[in-house]
Amino acid sequence: MPETTWWKHGIVYQIYPRSFQDWNGDGIGDLRGICERLDYLGWLGVHAIWISPIYPSPMADFGYDVADYCGIDPIFGTMEDFDRLVSQAHAKGLKVILDFVPNHTSDRHLWFVESRASRDSPKRDWYIWRDAKSDGSLPNNWLSNFGGPAWTWDQATGQYYYHAFLREQPDLNWRNPAVREAMHDVLRFWLRRGVDGFRVDVIWHLMKDPEFRDNPPNIGYQVGRPEIESLLQVHSTDQPDVHDVIAGMRRVIDEFDHRVLIGEIYLPIERLVAYYGSDLSGAHLPFNFQLIQTAWNAREIAALVHEYELALPEGGWPNWVLGNHDQPRIAARVGAAQARVAAMLLLTLRGTPTMYYGDEIGLGRVEIPPERVRDPWEINEPGLGLGRDPERTPMQWDASPSAGFTTGRPWLPLDPKHPACNVERLKQDPNSILSLYRRLIALRRDRRALDVGSYHTVAVEGQVFAYERRHRGERLMVALNLGHEPRRIPLPTDSTEGCVLLSTFLDRTGEAAAGEVGLRADEGLILELRRG
Ligand code: NOJ
Repeated sequence: MPETTWWKHGIVYQIYPRSFQDWNGDGIGDLRGICERLDYLGWLGVHAIWISPIYPSPMADFGYDVADYCGIDPIFGTMEDFDRLVSQAHAKGLKVILDFVPNHTSDRHLWFVESRASRDSPKRDWYIWRDAKSDGSLPNNWLSNFGGPAWTWDQATGQYYYHAFLREQPDLNWRNPAVREAMHDVLRFWLRRGVDGFRVDVIWHLMKDPEFRDNPPNIGYQVGRPEIESLLQVHSTDQPDVHDVIAGMRRVIDEFDHRVLIGEIYLPIERLVAYYGSDLSGAHLPFNFQLIQTAWNAREIAALVHEYELALPEGGWPNWVLGNHDQPRIAARVGAAQARVAAMLLLTLRGTPTMYYGDEIGLGRVEIPPERVRDPWEINEPGLGLGRDPERTPMQWDASPSAGFTTGRPWLPLDPKHPACNVERLKQDPNSILSLYRRLIALRRDRRALDVGSYHTVAVEGQVFAYERRHRGERLMVALNLGHEPRRIPLPTDSTEGCVLLSTFLDRTGEAAAGEVGLRADEGLILELRRG
């Protein structure tokens, strides 16, 4: 893969389609709404959009319960709308990545309807059916990721079916070759329509232990954490034979030119990197969520970057993610000041960055009153703070009552601060976080060192994490103050002069540094280094 491959130097922008832009006034975002905002994405400078599921769905899990893999849910529009979106995006130089949800379907998918119709159904083995144990109890102790047992009893046929998520999301049986073939054809259907790749939902879940052994207890489990954490998922996920399944998907992707396969994987680094596959036959980009999971301090973040760089297989391309529709927003986690530092980190590390819509305007946690909770996880396991609605609220475009998102009632509440925090307003403010994101993206597009350059740790001093990106003669140093006290740090010994290209406060461009550089509280800097 040459270094110019688009998904290596591109920035991916995740759109949660229900919340990006509503075109028809029903309070839920749609495809025509996304079309209306393509100019904004062009202005921002990202290269690709990944759109969370838009397929027909009963929406038990807001589209992650797919009832037809080759259609568009009327909430989001029509297939014509989709085709128009792809061609308009492509005309603007934007790639389009779809969400592919192969681990489970909706219980309303015709495959499952057929599968549950009788034990003799030709589709019976497309899902995971098991008898009760002789004492009538569940086939094993596996739990649903959304709380409660992962097995639901089907009265009519007298067996349990397995679902790693909601009971409305039965797991497909990927050991059945007919399932693999059908799903490969789904990929081809969209690839032929011109999509540039897929983000594959819970790819590490696809294969289960053939013997369905009980998962062992997690002795470190803490009460108040989600129930799923009470067991170690050693038999229900991350099985060795999942890599053959992924290689099969990858072969389909490779039937087409320049497409990308991204895998959603929540695993520690040493397990994660296996998803590049042997001889890179797996996902091009196994999503790296470590920045989401690591404590926000210089020592731990520096150690994590170091560990990840070392663990990558030869030729494996890195990637970084700060947030998504399942995780508390970065600004909610680290605060408004550090959200700027986080933006600089994401957009200057080596590897493909994925941004989450709204992070560029500093959107934080939006409080959801109990009567407006929509997320099934919050409903199933209330009060633990697991709900994902606070990071799925509508994008804020302007100061109008519905923030320019809809003319109707938004499906989730808007951030009450939206009159001050919206694209229109922040665009006009040269010091806003939005202006920072745009400058960072422009710099990354402009400087090969940031895009494809090598990575070198420079210093970890107190709360400052500094590193260099180098390409040919170009040397850029990134110095991030993750703390709230000013600090001075030395420049690398072999380069005594530096020139500020960008501060997270957007005010020091052109400033010279000799021997050392000062950082204000919560400041990040990018400097060009020269020999003195
Ligand atoms: C991961 C998705 O990101 C999440 O939103 C969904 O609930 C589960 N997979 C189940 O599909």
